[in-house]
Amino acid sequence: MAAQLLSTSVHDTVPGQYVRPESQRPRLGEVVAGARIPVVDLACPDRAALVSAVGGACRSHGFFQVLNHGIDAGLIAAVMAVAREFFRLPPEEKAKLYSDDPARKIRLSTSFNVRKETVHNWRDYLRLHCHPLDQFVPDWPSNPPDFKETMSTYCKEVRALGFRLYEAISESLGLEAGYMGNTMGEQEQHMAVNFYPPCPSPELTYGLPAHTDPNALTILLMDEEVAGLQVLNGGKWVAVNPQPGALVVNIGDQLQALSNGEYRSVWHRAVVNSDRERVSVASFLCPCSDVELGPARKLVTEETPAVYRNYTYDEYYKKFWSRNLDQEHCLELFRT
Ligand code: OGA
Ligand code: NI
Repeated sequence: MAAQLLSTSVHDTVPGQYVRPESQRPRLGEVVAGARIPVVDLACPDRAALVSAVGGACRSHGFFQVLNHGIDAGLIAAVMAVAREFFRLPPEEKAKLYSDDPARKIRLSTSFNVRKETVHNWRDYLRLHCHPLDQFVPDWPSNPPDFKETMSTYCKEVRALGFRLYEAISESLGLEAGYMGNTMGEQEQHMAVNFYPPCPSPELTYGLPAHTDPNALTILLMDEEVAGLQVLNGGKWVAVNPQPGALVVNIGDQLQALSNGEYRSVWHRAVVNSDRERVSVASFLCPCSDVELGPARKLVTEETPAVYRNYTYDEYYKKFWSRNLDQEHCLELFRT
């Protein structure tokens, strides 16, 4: 029900359905602040150094920030502005787009998977399929008026960036540059525009609880002023505060499988705060549903046998959405 959207009302207290049991709370006081997050400068003229920086970050953290990514700062500001404006639309306008069916290709929803979860999360999100653009854009929101144009320009650029990153990631594994782009087919692209309203008791709930992304690669555009993303590193939750102008990249489950477990699909979560709303725009590159996935053949040797079996993305994605977020890594279900 659209009435469940958080962004359509103001909250003085956290309703019971959002309150985590004591043992599952975020323990914000224990989060590591100011940790160094790997940075990759895409303008680096030394290809070998760039590839090695990417490989090191994928191995140690499963995520990194990219600088000099080529997406214009003005466009990024426009994307954030239109995202904020969207969530300020009147309730009746938003109700038209509401759905809790994960199979819908354009939907405004709340929390994560309201049909499956027992405790809700302090987030509303607009989830859009984005590729091929001309197939989906006509059905995207036509309000705010510049939504379609701004978001479709961004989608094209972020996709191109994703494919550039695939090349560097492939090379860093000793695979040919085109390996990922080629094996995952004409990939789907999804976008989640996340809106985390101010929350009266951030200690009791999450914007998004710990999860790994089920797709191949995620490129995250974050609010520069309001922090909230945290990643698990060395057993500790670490706050991610990217450098100005940077985008955050994280390895998803499919690249962990493809790398035969060498690269990590990082556990991450979003926490909320009591003062300010927070917006993020996640772009997900997803393999075609019928492509067979699994460890790259070249990475499977006698010493490093296949850690995961082969499967289709369709099988994987259905499994992911049939579960709740805060369970074990979905890839565990695909071990050999
Ligand atoms: C996601 C995600 C983090 C954030 O949408 O999968 O992890 O900071 N978002 O919004
Ligand atoms: Ni995520």
